[in-house]
Amino acid sequence: MRSHRIVTIPGDGIGPEILASALDVLADTEGRLETFHLELEEHIGGVACHERTGKPLTDESLEACRTADAVLKAPVGLPWARGADGTETGLLGGVLRNGLDLYANVRPIKLWPGVTPPIKVEAGQVDYVIVRENTEGLYLSRGRGVGNEEAMADVLLMTRKGVERIIRFAFEMAQRRNGSPSDGVRRVTCVDKSNVLRSFWFFRQIFQRIGEEYPLVEKEYLYSDAAAQALVQRPWHFDILVMENFLGDLLSDLGGGTIGGLGMCPSGNYGDRVAYFEPIHGSAPDIMGKGVANPLSQILSAAMMLEYLKEEEAAQMIQRAVWSALASGDLAIQANGQPVGGSTAATKAVLAHLGQS
Ligand code: NAD
Ligand code: IPM
Ligand code: MN
Repeated sequence: MRSHRIVTIPGDGIGPEILASALDVLADTEGRLETFHLELEEHIGGVACHERTGKPLTDESLEACRTADAVLKAPVGLPWARGADGTETGLLGGVLRNGLDLYANVRPIKLWPGVTPPIKVEAGQVDYVIVRENTEGLYLSRGRGVGNEEAMADVLLMTRKGVERIIRFAFEMAQRRNGSPSDGVRRVTCVDKSNVLRSFWFFRQIFQRIGEEYPLVEKEYLYSDAAAQALVQRPWHFDILVMENFLGDLLSDLGGGTIGGLGMCPSGNYGDRVAYFEPIHGSAPDIMGKGVANPLSQILSAAMMLEYLKEEEAAQMIQRAVWSALASGDLAIQANGQPVGGSTAATKAVLAHLGQS
């Protein structure tokens, strides 16, 4: 029996609700397969932790994440919990991504059946991945903004090492996928703003050079404003899009809006030695405690974690269960992104289909 040590972080807002759903699905999968065991270790993080300790994650918990086989994190942060500089106190992006050097933020945007997308597309026609640089760009300025009462600056910085490694990561991933849904072409789209900013020209030049090492992958360039339109008008064209941190933050939520909402969006944050998995969305304080959140973002993040742990059979079992629960109509996602019957009904439907797949 293979064993994996997993740190879980329940987070804030809807975090504990959707993490509980994902842990139910993991436990059920483990029980059915009996080939692996997850040794779970819960660590408090986010606003709840900041209120107790003055930090969104303690040093001990960060160390536990560094030495774990993987981390399954729920959303953290509450917009009313802010520090003296005005930014939120509960966030862990800087702590985990920079603290553990997790440079690749992988955000699959996939249209599943049974959802109500705002654009006219069928399940399977949207299936691309946003590879978001995760340790520099504009967000390197987290906690470092400078200024006074009259002006304030956050610097966007790109380094050769940082850009090279994310671009290589994107091309390597393209080689492992099956290409875009519309034409099957393996394609990496470089999304930047190099018409205006030197840092993005630096990014594009490195993309061009590294792209030459991958002759079988098509390269394409889009400015980020035009990319926003294209992701709505012709999302089926895309396979992998690689971009700077802030752009990846914005465009991945835009992608989520086209496939039934953020509750359909898992993600993985990868470094060379550690990785953590979380929904791309936040703690959704507007719906916390109401039992209406879509837990699939957290459940699919757990499946991405299993893939990373090389528990492919278990990962596929969960993905198949989600697909068949949605395709059969036992689970449906409304236009507002919430599952019919709420989180409990959604979790039950996935568990029922785990038994069948
Ligand atoms: P949000 O992503 O929490 O919510 C945006 C909208 O999407 C809301 O209407 C919400 O109800 C809806 N939504 C999100 N997840 C959903 C789900 N699973 N099912 C159904 N609907 C869902 O963004 P926000 O309101 O701008 O931010 C709330 C808090 O989360 C802030 O404190 C923010 O800083 C934080 N945040 C944290 C993370 C993270 O931990 N990774 C990511 C983004 C935002
Ligand atoms: C995300 C979030 C975080 C980010 C914030 C809340 C720290 O928006 O993971 O998309 O972009 O850094
Ligand atoms: Mn975001």
